[in-house]
Amino acid sequence: MKINELTIEQKLRLICGKDCWNTCDFDGKIPSVKTTDASMGIRMPVDPEKWTDGDKPSVAYPSLQMLCNTWDTDMARTYAECVADDCLDAGADVVLGPGVNIKRDPLCGRSFEYLSEDPFLAGVMAREYVKGMQSEGAGACVKHFCCNNAELNRFQQSSDVDERTLREIYYKPFEIALQAKPVSVMSSYNRINGVYGSEYKKGYDVLRNEYGFDGLIMSDWDAVRDRTSAAKAGLDLEMPYSENNYEKLVQDYNDGKITEKEIDVLAERVLDVVERCKQMQKGKKRKHTLAERIAFTQTVEREGIVLLKNNGVLPLEKGQSLSMCGWFARPCAYNRKRPELVCGGGSGKVERLTPMFDMLEIMKREHGSDIAYEPAFSDDGVDGAFMNAGKAVENAAVSDVNIVFAGTGAYKESEGGDRPTMNNGIAQTRTILDTASVNPNTVVVLFAGAPIDMSEWIDKVAAVVYAGFPGENGGDAIADVLTGKVNPCGKLSETFPVRYEDSPAAKSRNDSKVTRYEEGLLVGYRYFDTCGILPQFPFGHGLSYAKFEYADIRSESDGNTLDITFDVKNASKIDGKEISQVYVRALSSYVTRPYKELKGFAKTFVRAGTTERVKVTLDKNAFEYWSTAKDRWDIEDGAYEILVGASAQDIRLKAKVKMIGSRFFIGI
Ligand code: BGC
Repeated sequence: MKINELTIEQKLRLICGKDCWNTCDFDGKIPSVKTTDASMGIRMPVDPEKWTDGDKPSVAYPSLQMLCNTWDTDMARTYAECVADDCLDAGADVVLGPGVNIKRDPLCGRSFEYLSEDPFLAGVMAREYVKGMQSEGAGACVKHFCCNNAELNRFQQSSDVDERTLREIYYKPFEIALQAKPVSVMSSYNRINGVYGSEYKKGYDVLRNEYGFDGLIMSDWDAVRDRTSAAKAGLDLEMPYSENNYEKLVQDYNDGKITEKEIDVLAERVLDVVERCKQMQKGKKRKHTLAERIAFTQTVEREGIVLLKNNGVLPLEKGQSLSMCGWFARPCAYNRKRPELVCGGGSGKVERLTPMFDMLEIMKREHGSDIAYEPAFSDDGVDGAFMNAGKAVENAAVSDVNIVFAGTGAYKESEGGDRPTMNNGIAQTRTILDTASVNPNTVVVLFAGAPIDMSEWIDKVAAVVYAGFPGENGGDAIADVLTGKVNPCGKLSETFPVRYEDSPAAKSRNDSKVTRYEEGLLVGYRYFDTCGILPQFPFGHGLSYAKFEYADIRSESDGNTLDITFDVKNASKIDGKEISQVYVRALSSYVTRPYKELKGFAKTFVRAGTTERVKVTLDKNAFEYWSTAKDRWDIEDGAYEILVGASAQDIRLKAKVKMIGSRFFIGI
């Protein structure tokens, strides 16, 4: 149907949604688009008319932050293909994700739904996700535009951010993700410099005029205060349908406050997205069977697990006796509430398809020994209900290796609220400390979607495995890493500060109305680097059972792009994958720059005892910054350092290049 075939009433209805999830179809006259949450699997309500009736089970994938910890663009595409298959199987057309908001604040309740603190990494992973999803025929919706970086008072709060920071940090993942031409973008609840996300014309203009976005801008759910103002700002679709807002819009139209011409632009975009979704689905067969999708959850988790600390206790040796404790190992056996809550909560939560895994059973099978287990603490972990913690200590004292399964889960990490603290509470902390005091070979496995304050116990334990929220078969992946069947290779996509107060966001968390992003560009490692503050675990950190050595950095250029090549040697007896990071540091800038910024990365499989030559190509925009003097991107002439690291704090190689007249020169 063409826009001129619609009546004005139909146009007004079209831009307001039909119900909770669908666009208007005028009793079947045009197809409608069905949206569904979210990016880590599908959350299809049992009763499509209601929000609260529970959700239909669907494949639960490891949380998005775990996908990002893989630093694997192929994996991002496959992950999204699988979610697209689930989406189409469920009869939906558009997946409400991926979430690309920058992880500015470690307490953010939705950290597990977001990709990274770094705009380049978040953008690249989101771009590949969108490509994968749409290649399978489901539409993507990149969200939440913009500066929805915490949940505290999210419906009102205003993020106070300067223009350069918006461009370089908070818009950037959207800019990169939009290269994959997602069918839609979702606006945010919060205000940006005082203006609601659903009325953020200035930002929408950037998406349209500068990033070339011609898809649909839809509201977050119930985020529209005034449909007419939102429409005039360029918000195409309000979701879900709100009778009050619709009636007010009709009234405003009748009063001449908004014209049919203005409505046409928005309604046409809704028609476009309906058409585009139907076209994308044409002739599409599912690429991955359900069994393959479930099996894939183990693959992602294997690559996303981050071995944070290891004094050599891991991998476990055959024949070692084990003790295990912690509710998170056996939520099925000891659930006081619901066993499947080893995940994040809110709209990103997926009702898993298979029963929650049991780490005790898995470890008995994989490690092949009898294992003593005690829950030690309860699922919410803070109520002090030490569930026979004394027995856990007794077990630990007589085992070769003791493993504590701790974490956060959906009670602590969920949309609509932030965590009050980065600390996991007295019950978990005591269990870790008490068992570690009788068994120095204590390993902590963490199920969480965000950084944890480990300062009380990190020096007392032998190893820490960050398992995130692992999805369906994630338990097997954790066992794979513990037993050494798989060599861990994930690296952190966000900094883990020692304590929350070290984070730049801590200073501005004092007002529920305005959040001043006073750190500006210095988000995540940019802050820790530039201000010389040591984190607990830096951005990009992750250990392997192998040992990698870097050598022989070279740079080559035709003037327009810059090839950085270097050797990665696996100086160990075990095959492994290494994620190498390429940072750029401006040495002679006339404007303030963060100490260094990630501009490229590579993940390389290196067989034991061999060396691989790795190549990362940078183009000029890896060197640009947003000039507030010129109101555009600018590249300064001068010297730059290229830093190649195994993490943001573990720089192995350096090279220098010069930019003259916006051309690269090397060998200075
Ligand atoms: C969330 C969105 C989600 C939407 C639909 C909102 O509350 O912020 O991320 O897609 O609900 O459930």
